[in-house]
Amino acid sequence: MPTAYERLLALIRKRRARVAVIGLGYVGLPLAVRFAEAGFKVTGYDLDPRRIGDLRRGKCYIPDVPAAAIRALLKAGRLSVTGRGEPLSQAQVIVICVPTPLQKSREPDLSFICSAVETVAEQVKPPALVILESTTTPGTTDGMVREKMEAVKLKMDRDIFLAFSPERIDPGNALGVKAIPKLVGGVTPQSTRLAHLFYSQSLDRVIAVSSSRVAETAKLLENTFRIINIALANEFALLCNAIGVDVWEVIDAAGSKPFGFMPFYPGPGIGGHCIPSDPIYLSWHAKSAGFEPRMIDLASQINSQMPEHVVSRVADLLNAESKPIKSSKILQLGVAYKRNINDTRDSPALEILGRLSRKGARVAYHDPHVAQVRGYGKQWRSVPLTRESVRSADCVVIATDHQNVDYKMVAKEARLIFDARNVMQAIPHRRSKVERL
Ligand SMILES: NC(=O)c1ccc[n+]([C@@H]2O[C@H](COP(=O)([O-])OP(=O)(O)OC[C@H]3O[C@@H](n4cnc5c(N)ncnc54)[C@H](O)[C@@H]3O)[C@@H](O)[C@H]2O)c1
Repeated sequence: MPTAYERLLALIRKRRARVAVIGLGYVGLPLAVRFAEAGFKVTGYDLDPRRIGDLRRGKCYIPDVPAAAIRALLKAGRLSVTGRGEPLSQAQVIVICVPTPLQKSREPDLSFICSAVETVAEQVKPPALVILESTTTPGTTDGMVREKMEAVKLKMDRDIFLAFSPERIDPGNALGVKAIPKLVGGVTPQSTRLAHLFYSQSLDRVIAVSSSRVAETAKLLENTFRIINIALANEFALLCNAIGVDVWEVIDAAGSKPFGFMPFYPGPGIGGHCIPSDPIYLSWHAKSAGFEPRMIDLASQINSQMPEHVVSRVADLLNAESKPIKSSKILQLGVAYKRNINDTRDSPALEILGRLSRKGARVAYHDPHVAQVRGYGKQWRSVPLTRESVRSADCVVIATDHQNVDYKMVAKEARLIFDARNVMQAIPHRRSKVERL
């Protein structure tokens, strides 16, 4: 009689294991599609009825996932989507991709993981491999998740195999899920082996680490590395502005060194679901263990001051033209938090829009990826980017460097430009009217 481990091993190897993905967002949906394309039968489960409705109609709200791929997989019966937890009982592999935001108090909010894990514990039919992908504090998988399984008498390595595998998706980046190397760390060695085998069926490279804690902490290091280096670039931009040196040229010059330097660029701040919050998870966790990390909090402070810095530079620019910010007409290019995506969560561009508006500027935005957005007590709608809309603005603020924007036209028609992304460097313009971060 094969053991539970051997049964799962065989099912995964033959791609006969049924897979369920919980949370069909920026992370879960591309993964569900990849597993289905690799030959698994996949059920996607999400509490948001709009997302389920869209997917069932063959529409896709994540720009990196082609709607045609969803339609083909639905039609072939390889992918199904549901708003109910019951179908989880048919899955032998369950992957959890729910949000892990910060609370208002800036403490980790693990409530989404908690509730998803409770649903799994209620529904799962052993044996099953359960993998957490949501970024979280070290010890969540072998702590809270394991405890919730054991509370309903599910035994490790007999009923349940448990692992953590951090998602490394990079929205807007052509490098898709398949090509990005994946870390896995199990709560037990058998869990690690099953998770490694599972991902190896769909992805190019899978790296096993010794525990779920190492995998959890590695994800936090990756994003801490980014938050700190972005903060260094941002502080350097402020420093260069103070001493009258072009920060962009300095970074490119230093970037010519083939070793020991990796260029990071300044910008209007950081946004999205990962970089602003993940390092805070680590900082919070370290503090609760009695260790006071200094670099993360400092980096977070520096980055969070950037939107206000942009607003103050725009005000200076207008002031030099004898215009107050109040009543000035400002056209902002971009509200997404980074280029070529439609995600406005924690977007510094949205913060700039809100701050300018609160100072009395007459603000409009154009974003080819975001038709409308709510924030700062207002509902905003993207305006068309036309010669007239550019010409009539007292200042154009480039907050997000989307590629499909006619910057040549903007450079030709705008009176004043504040460029927080250095897109104007590559565009011929009369330099006098462009101010860069
Ligand atoms: N977005 C990124 O670029 C990115 C990159 C790497 C890691 N991550 C991490 O991945 C995780 C997911 O992020 P995301 O960007 O995909 O979030 P998202 O908000 O886009 O998607 C999460 C989905 O989970 C659903 N959901 C929430 N609770 C649920 C539950 N109990 N049952 C079923 N569905 C539920 C929500 O309705 C939502 O559709 C987070 O921990 C995030 O930090 C995100």
